[in-house]
Amino acid sequence: MDKFQIYGGARLDGEIDVYSAKNSVLALLAASILTDEQVILTDCPKIGDVYNMIKILEALGSKVVWQENSIIIDSLGVYSHEIPQSYGKEIRSSIFMLGSILARFKKAKAVFPGGCDIGLRPIDLHIKGLRELNIDVKEMGANILCDAKNARGKKIHLDFPSVGATENIMLASVLINGRTVICNAAKEPEIVCLQDMLNKMGAKVYGAGTGTIEIEGVKKLHGVEFKPIPDRILAGTYLIAAAMTKGKVYIKNCRPNDLTSLISKLNGVSCDILANDDTILVKGYEKPQSVMMIETSPYPGFPTDLQAQTLALQTISHGTSLIVENIFETRYKHVGELIKMGAEIVVKDRYAIVRGVEKLYGTQVFAHDLRGGAALVLAGLAAEGTTIVEDIHHVDRGYYKLEEDLTSLGASVKRIQS
Ligand code: UD1
Repeated sequence: MDKFQIYGGARLDGEIDVYSAKNSVLALLAASILTDEQVILTDCPKIGDVYNMIKILEALGSKVVWQENSIIIDSLGVYSHEIPQSYGKEIRSSIFMLGSILARFKKAKAVFPGGCDIGLRPIDLHIKGLRELNIDVKEMGANILCDAKNARGKKIHLDFPSVGATENIMLASVLINGRTVICNAAKEPEIVCLQDMLNKMGAKVYGAGTGTIEIEGVKKLHGVEFKPIPDRILAGTYLIAAAMTKGKVYIKNCRPNDLTSLISKLNGVSCDILANDDTILVKGYEKPQSVMMIETSPYPGFPTDLQAQTLALQTISHGTSLIVENIFETRYKHVGELIKMGAEIVVKDRYAIVRGVEKLYGTQVFAHDLRGGAALVLAGLAAEGTTIVEDIHHVDRGYYKLEEDLTSLGASVKRIQS
């Protein structure tokens, strides 16, 4: 397994571009099989999760090629309604394929999905939503068998504004008879992005970004060329990296409005942040202060995907910080590794208390999941001495050549291939 060797201490300095959001690209790839015509997604990251999703599309019969950073999908010859077990288990977003396969074939076979090991991550809301659409869903061991021949639009209430369930229900309902209304829908920017692409393909979806999404079923969708939104989690990761290294980084091609919860917590406390329409300038403080409390919640609340990186920043900030992880139960696997580097953190259930220390010290640490792995890389940048981050395949699932981006900003990060 590859690892990163990081010599800490360099202040990040320079400009960096943000590429398209992984979590958008995955949902848009799922949407691509809703049409026989060509779908082109531009400016996409060549990361593990995207490659896995493409493998699933190919297994269904789509032809997928990369042209530089664009993904070109031709689903004219799609013939299979089954997500292969091996791929389905590896990647959680395979579950969105259920909605789009159902829309296309009126039947689907999938397996319970995998993804980062950060908690229970059930799919009951997806299944309940599909059943509300009059889709017959049978759970048979590890398999899920669905029949949508009698599917019709309906009003659905989600008990929790799940991103995945909202996207799946949107995908399942764009091509069925009648009007679907999703109440208590997720409001994440990636949901708005999915609505925008579906509507460009001829769908009738309204309300994304609010708690109520309405979908008027149409007969057919057509091809599209579409640029997904920039990755807010990547922009947030760079922002925190600048603060942790007391550096100065100009983040380009991003959407600061999608990051308000992070910016409002850190600005004036850890760093100075100057946000424009699509850029963020970050200047880290010599003595960053602790953020008193950070509590993850659905958008527009503080993103769970930035909890680990923000926690890492608190380890070297002056004061004490309380972190509350409300979305996933076991999303603190980075904590034990940060403690190895000298951090002072106590975790109890969903709470982490972080008391800032003067310094972290480089040592060997292990990435256990995607964002936790990124947090360890940031800690390595700020630490004294050499940090080895093992198992970076987790990081590669969501960050494209992170070491090259950080090196371009003056960091010393080397990939050591096994
Ligand atoms: C979540 C994040 C999303 C992030 C993604 C990748 C939230 C609200 N969602 O999306 O922003 O990009 O992880 O890390 O922060 N749940 C159920 N039953 C279901 C589906 C979900 O109980 O059928 C629960 C989950 O266990 C979890 C919560 O709902 O506690 C959030 O789930 P959901 O938004 O669906 O997760 P993701 O789509 O993975």
